[in-house]
Amino acid sequence: MNVIIVKDQVEGGRKAADMVIDAVKNGAKVLGLATGSTPETMYKDLIASDVDFTKMTSINLDEYVGLAPDDDQSYHYFMAKHLFDAKPFAKSYVPNGLAKDADAETERYNKVIADNPIDLQVLGLGRNGHIGFNEPGSPIDAQTRKVALTESTIEANSRNFEHEEDVPKFAYSMGIGSIMKSHNIILMAWGTEKADAVKGMIEGPVTPDCPASILQKKDNVTVIVDEAAASKL
Ligand code: GLP
Repeated sequence: MNVIIVKDQVEGGRKAADMVIDAVKNGAKVLGLATGSTPETMYKDLIASDVDFTKMTSINLDEYVGLAPDDDQSYHYFMAKHLFDAKPFAKSYVPNGLAKDADAETERYNKVIADNPIDLQVLGLGRNGHIGFNEPGSPIDAQTRKVALTESTIEANSRNFEHEEDVPKFAYSMGIGSIMKSHNIILMAWGTEKADAVKGMIEGPVTPDCPASILQKKDNVTVIVDEAAASKL
């Protein structure tokens, strides 16, 4: 793991955006993308840059089950607003939260990932160490699947919803096995509320209790954290 400690989210987002732009210059064809507040500064910098994604493919990590693409809490909507409207890709994939058949949807998504190997995957980090929506205890070889969100994730994500009971209880998420197949990974984390998860990810044992700790087993992982998130290292 290459760990970079930056002053704040602005500096960290710039570093991550520079790495994405370099990857594109070096021929990356498929980007794996993440939602949440963490990558917002990176997306701003990508939008401000002259990077061109129009011949590329993007594959998002996850989507809430039950939310339509135009629901303003859906990850489809987030991606349109924070990146795709300004910087479209030739093809962008996000799991379909309204899919009627969960098995067919996860099978479809796994085929998308198999057909489009991810050159660079962007990740945020949950307060409990989750990546994508792979909550503690998730199997390390899992592919895309429907997952139940933990109470702590529902509570953490409720800040984006009017009422906590509006937060969906399930999501489709790429599995840890799918994430580990991507060639390069950039994980970002900001703020003291991520400090325990950052410590577990970097210094703790590799354990399903902290899903991000599995990244210790992979080459080509860059972790960008601000001073607050790095405060327990
Ligand atoms: C969400 C997402 C993750 C994200 C994480 C952190 O539950 N599924 O992909 O990395 O939580 O969110 P935030 O960046 O808002 O702190």
